[in-house]
Amino acid sequence: MKKNKSNKPRLRFFEDSPGQQHIADSDKYLYQRPVPSHNLVIIGTGTIGQEHMRVATLLGRAQIHGIYDTQKHSMDIAEANFSRYSEKPLLRYQDLDSACNDPAVDALFICTPNHTHFEILQTAIKSGKAIFLEKPMATDLQDAAATEAMARAYSSFIQIGLQYRYKAQYVEAFHEALSRASLGEIKTISLSEYRPPFLDKVEQWNKFNANSGGTLVEKCCHYFDLINLLAQSQPTKVYASGGQAVNFIDFERDGNASDIDDHAFVVIDYANGTRANFTLNMFCHDFSEELVVSGDRGRLTAKEVFNFHQQQGSKASLAIEAGELGGSKTIDVTYPALIEQSGHHGATYFEHIAFVDQLEGRSVPAATPLQGLWSMVVASAAQASMASGGAVDINQFMAANGLADYLNA
Ligand SMILES: NC(=O)c1ccc[n+]([C@@H]2O[C@H](COP(=O)([O-])OP(=O)(O)OC[C@H]3O[C@@H](n4cnc5c(N)ncnc54)[C@H](O)[C@@H]3O)[C@@H](O)[C@H]2O)c1
Repeated sequence: MKKNKSNKPRLRFFEDSPGQQHIADSDKYLYQRPVPSHNLVIIGTGTIGQEHMRVATLLGRAQIHGIYDTQKHSMDIAEANFSRYSEKPLLRYQDLDSACNDPAVDALFICTPNHTHFEILQTAIKSGKAIFLEKPMATDLQDAAATEAMARAYSSFIQIGLQYRYKAQYVEAFHEALSRASLGEIKTISLSEYRPPFLDKVEQWNKFNANSGGTLVEKCCHYFDLINLLAQSQPTKVYASGGQAVNFIDFERDGNASDIDDHAFVVIDYANGTRANFTLNMFCHDFSEELVVSGDRGRLTAKEVFNFHQQQGSKASLAIEAGELGGSKTIDVTYPALIEQSGHHGATYFEHIAFVDQLEGRSVPAATPLQGLWSMVVASAAQASMASGGAVDINQFMAANGLADYLNA
């Protein structure tokens, strides 16, 4: 039997169906599963660490070799959940050094809270292994820039967990707006997220700006990455207004009151003349995202609604309006249900494909540390604008933060 090729269709419905289990392994061609070629270690087995375990297993091109977390409880839960979909034994490392330096392992996934990323990276990078670093890459611009410089000098690669670019509606939006140029020259970009509050976390790290880097850094780096990709230019000016209106206003831990923002309006000017805005509201009952891009020839709207109270799966769509200048359309965009349900509406699955492709030496449009840094520049400038009440000039902001070398680089 020949080796499973990656372009062969996966028919998991039949692979998993009870009526097909009589097909012996030696007879499997369509049902043959990929043999994992890479071993991964997950550092931080909380919400997203477990999503990476699930998604890597579903994809099947790499396998989870071991886990490490400072909380035994997190590892116990991760292991118990893992055993529901995988028979593979998991190694538990006793410390970070051994988790990073197992010769049997090809890549490290850093899935710990934001304020631990930079320190963990110092140990991880000594391994010489490929690294997946969750977003935001750090909590401040100095550590983010130092990470970017370390990545440039690294013998392997660092991929940042900005996977929203792989959501089905944004893949289509990029294709229409950038590859097909269906909208002509892009002039304005509006993006919004309406959602429930930040969820409970281990030791509630995300309720404090000191741990998360601030709400716009922690959560909205995803959206600033998307806007930067669409604008295809460097930001020049950022103005923002926002604050903490509803969420966690009575929340305290160890005598410290939560200080995280729950809503914001951000306006961004780009060097090429593109103007963008971003709206965040985190005191809603369900999730929705909307992107509107307008060019001199048309308008695009990409939407995603996840109405979990009604127990509905995510619904995403894309609309193009070109008036008398060309074709208009409205389409539903989706991934197979089991991929969508594996996490972040399927975006994490395609992020894993990109990671494994990079491991195998292919060049892919995965999030780079430089792109991660620019998403943090916009987020941090917006937070600075909210604090000062004035617009932030990006040239001055970069110089004040020791990042002038990145301008027009
Ligand atoms: N890309 C995305 O869409 C996405 C989604 C969720 C979270 N994240 C990011 O993933 C990271 C983790 O978030 P989460 O939601 O999984 O949080 P979580 O609180 O659910 O899990 C974090 C885990 O890290 C462990 N941990 C803390 N410090 C550690 C250390 N020094 N060494 C080893 N383990 C440590 C904790 O015990 C916990 O089990 C954050 O950076 C967050 O921003 C990204």
